[in-house]
Amino acid sequence: MEVDAVVGRIEDIEDRAIVVNLFQGVREPGGATGAVDRALGGMIGDLIEGGDLRGEFKEAALFRTFGKIPAERVLVMGLGEREKFSLDRIREISAKAALHLRESGVKSFSTIVHGAGIGGFDLGEACEALVEGALLGTYTFDRYKTEEEEKKELDRMSVVVKDRPDLAAVKDAIQWAVTLSDATNFVRDLVTSPARDKTPAKLAEIATKMAQDVGLKCTVLDREEALKLNMGAFLGVAQGSEEPPKFIVLEHSGGKKGEMPIAVVGKGITFDSGGLNLKSFENMKLMKEDMGGAAAAMGVMKAAAELRLPLNLIGIAPCTENLPSGKATKPGDVLNTHLGKTIEVVNTDAEGRLILSDGLGYATNYNPQAIIDMATLTGACRVALGNKTTGMMGTSEELMERLKAAGQRTGDYVWPLPLFEDYEEQIESDVADVKNTGGRYGGAITAALLLKKFVKDIPWVHLDIAGTVWTDGKPDALNKEYLPKGPTGIGVRLLLQLLRDWKKST
Ligand code: BES
Ligand code: MN
Ligand code: ZN
Repeated sequence: MEVDAVVGRIEDIEDRAIVVNLFQGVREPGGATGAVDRALGGMIGDLIEGGDLRGEFKEAALFRTFGKIPAERVLVMGLGEREKFSLDRIREISAKAALHLRESGVKSFSTIVHGAGIGGFDLGEACEALVEGALLGTYTFDRYKTEEEEKKELDRMSVVVKDRPDLAAVKDAIQWAVTLSDATNFVRDLVTSPARDKTPAKLAEIATKMAQDVGLKCTVLDREEALKLNMGAFLGVAQGSEEPPKFIVLEHSGGKKGEMPIAVVGKGITFDSGGLNLKSFENMKLMKEDMGGAAAAMGVMKAAAELRLPLNLIGIAPCTENLPSGKATKPGDVLNTHLGKTIEVVNTDAEGRLILSDGLGYATNYNPQAIIDMATLTGACRVALGNKTTGMMGTSEELMERLKAAGQRTGDYVWPLPLFEDYEEQIESDVADVKNTGGRYGGAITAALLLKKFVKDIPWVHLDIAGTVWTDGKPDALNKEYLPKGPTGIGVRLLLQLLRDWKKST
């Protein structure tokens, strides 16, 4: 779907549909909705009067105009209660509007910016949310569908502003939102792809091509190079698979030369069977999603390059399968790491922290000012926080506060779990420097404590996205109108929101 900006009065716009809105409880619409109502001879007022339009959150009332105004249809979206109105609600309302119109066979529409007028939000912020909601909500993935279905697709969405001086802000907001939504949908495509079509080698190919397209530097380390770099933990996980592992490094040099970069590290297990500690059917069936962190890191780098962020960034994605075989790493094995510390493998299904120990260790070589990692790391995090909030642990309180604020703004909620030293005895090993599981209790914390051993003294935050990477639409899933069933694309908008203001806050 194309998104553009138009100056004009919404009631004068000629299009298949125009979209206006109504807060719950409003009897006489004002602003743009009031203007449309007057042009229609009071049709909207009549709907309200008759009880057919109440302005409830995500309510959608679509009707034809029969030539009374240039637009063929009007869609009035309910904004819900005024006190509950938020940027995230703008995203949801916008997604619902786009989905409703698409379902009705409407191919193009013009919309006002919900929340910018009476809603009281900054025009740019509200417009970003509006465009994100529509682009994220209408995402589909039909690469493997061969049977012709009647394709319903939206071609264009126009954002209408009344005053010409507002046009520049709206155009900026559109560009930002389109870039972030595209990067998020790029991540979704990767996460939803079957493991056989996103082997580490294929992911490396995709990363290389993406880097070329947007102007990033991309280096892919293969098994031999990883061996030379002593990445025994990364290679130990890869050992059971026929697919060669790839260690992907992306670089964005938007900052000053010599300025310390920010490193973004993502877990890239393209399929997690558990290894010799094989998972059950229930636990294994969705394990193509276990590269969600790596995909998010790639998406962050893509968007950062396209938006020309004035920062130096390093994206690191160790990618491998975790499979059992005659060659696979066994419980009891001890693996060496890039930083020299040794890890005892107690459970081959705790493989994420193994590849991340080398991923994070390698990141420290760049002497970054901060390291942020994203990983579908533990089922324990889902038990602790559910599927609606990303778990956060780290060594920099300041960075964690900023991530929390970024999440409030983007709707990607993150919440801290403690990293108290008392938990460390759970991962003390009798034979190696550390062991890769800490028992049943506090599993998200002990996993993060292992990671902490591989970031030196660099400010670091770990995001456990095991719960938030995928939504199945059940009540206990992350359910938002702009998140269709499937991968959420978590991470891209959250990190870009953090990085966007990076200069200002440090
Ligand atoms: N990839 C899983 C974690 C996971 C679970 C991600 C559910 C997404 C959804 C991870 O590699 C894993 O298997 N973790 C184990 C660790 C345990 C063996 C210490 C877990 O959480 O059960
Ligand atoms: Mn696992
Ligand atoms: Zn895993």
